[in-house]
Amino acid sequence: MRLILLGPPGAGKGTQAVNIVKKYNIPHISTGDMFRKNIKEGTDLGVKAKEYIDKGLLVPDELTVAIVKDRLSEKDCQEGFLLDGFPRTVNQADALDTELKNLSYELDHVINIDVEKEELIDRAVGRRVCKDCGATYHIKFNPPKKENMCDVCGGELIQRKDDTVETVTKRIEVYLEQTEPLIDYYGKKGILINIDGKQDIDKVFEDIVASLGRE
Ligand code: AP5
Ligand code: MG
Ligand code: ZN
Repeated sequence: MRLILLGPPGAGKGTQAVNIVKKYNIPHISTGDMFRKNIKEGTDLGVKAKEYIDKGLLVPDELTVAIVKDRLSEKDCQEGFLLDGFPRTVNQADALDTELKNLSYELDHVINIDVEKEELIDRAVGRRVCKDCGATYHIKFNPPKKENMCDVCGGELIQRKDDTVETVTKRIEVYLEQTEPLIDYYGKKGILINIDGKQDIDKVFEDIVASLGRE
């Protein structure tokens, strides 16, 4: 299965990705996670990406496309993959098309998780992530069993630096301007699946599996 997860910041892409990759046994490719890893490790890419991420802006296409190209050429992508948060511009989508043709891969579906703006801010600002394993929680909607401690590994839960009301508002603006056009882009290709993301986490997953299974 070759999939893309599309949706505004805080829609639940990462949350759903964890279950999707487990069920279909495919690698999870999140450009956001890759950039955060590079920032943590202090690489050149991390230093460059941080400038944009902290402001809620998109990292330039050439940097982003390059890391995805590298990742897709790895062996574990031969049987499929889930792209989370990529592509995010029409330019990136065109570059992905070209790369997939080079690799003789075809996309199966683009899953678009739809959530309205007001809810997105609540979701992102209340999000907490495990500093060690990256598991995602929400202080209200998906709290850990023990406050500030990861259920999976016991690690400390922290807030992402770009999860302030101000930066999330900017990220949503950028999404509407640069990423939302991709709904049409993939709609025209006939591979778009729209999912109502305003439901419970489990129900959203059920709907995703049901729409993938129908094909
Ligand atoms: P990235 O990390 O991809 O951030 P994002 O797209 O803004 O999306 P988020 O990770 O914030 O949200 P999500 O949809 O994964 O939601 P989650 O499941 O965590 O990118 C970060 C930055 O990196 C970008 O701003 C950009 O600068 C750069 N970047 C990344 N990719 C790029 C690209 N391709 N090109 C250029 N730059 C790029 O859920 C959110 C919260 O809601 C959690 O607390 C969760 O527990 C909760 N929640 C989830 N589902 C539900 C539900 N159904 N009900 C209630 N609560 C829920
Ligand atoms: Mg995410
Ligand atoms: Zn953890």
